[in-house]
Amino acid sequence: PYTASGVLASACGADKEVSKLLYAKAGIPIAPGLALEVGDEVDIDHIVEVCGERCFVKPAVNGSSYGISLVHEPSELPSAIAKAFEYGDKVLVEKCIEGTEITVGVYGEDDVRALPIVEIRKPEDCEFYDLDVKYVDPTDIHRIPAQISPENYARAQELACAAHRALGCLGISRSDFIVSEDGPVILETNTIPGMTDTSLYPDEIRHTDDMTFPQVCDSLIRMGLRRAGVAC
Ligand SMILES: Nc1ncnc2c1ncn2[C@@H]1O[C@H](COP(=O)(O)OP(=O)(O)O)[C@@H](O)[C@H]1O
Ligand SMILES: [Mg+2]
Repeated sequence: PYTASGVLASACGADKEVSKLLYAKAGIPIAPGLALEVGDEVDIDHIVEVCGERCFVKPAVNGSSYGISLVHEPSELPSAIAKAFEYGDKVLVEKCIEGTEITVGVYGEDDVRALPIVEIRKPEDCEFYDLDVKYVDPTDIHRIPAQISPENYARAQELACAAHRALGCLGISRSDFIVSEDGPVILETNTIPGMTDTSLYPDEIRHTDDMTFPQVCDSLIRMGLRRAGVAC
């Protein structure tokens, strides 16, 4: 029988406030933060109390780093918040988590498995993985496998599978984390990860020793057909 849960997973994944609620419920570490809606009073002291002085301000529903700012001190908050509101009616302010940025693909139907982890190295002159970095030559900034401790590697793979299940993803997903001193902290889950030649998910598949990209595409189509009740 057809199930609409893949649609729900993508809707939940697109709203970072909703996905963070689902991660927290599943025990997946998230960055401390708060959501602001249009018309809310902005209490700078409260924001600093929850998020610290160095924090990220971003539209809750968007992607590709539009409207996102790294705030270094509280005086920068009002303009960063105004900028994020240009992209939507809800804004997230989040503590800046210091550490190594990684992304972890997940694949499977009933039993899901995590793929080899990619480390995303920021160019020197860049404060975060923003729009400009996302579309430059990825071979310069991607490192597989990520150079993190075996404990953090295993934990991030486990958390990526937990995030996949928490949102109700089907077939594939790719979750982004910062590996902090206290372990991996999730940033977001891409429920329909990029699949171009230079995208992260296909790169992770290339680094498995038992799957090829065409096989994964083929099996995703079969999973979809089975869910739609079509024999294949
Ligand atoms: N709380 C945070 N701590 C550290 N870095 C962050 C945080 N939030 C965002 N970033 C940085 O900003 C980038 C984009 O943020 P993200 O939440 O993934 O938004 P988008 O959906 O636009 O990709 C991340 O890849 C990361 O480099
Ligand atoms: Mg992102």
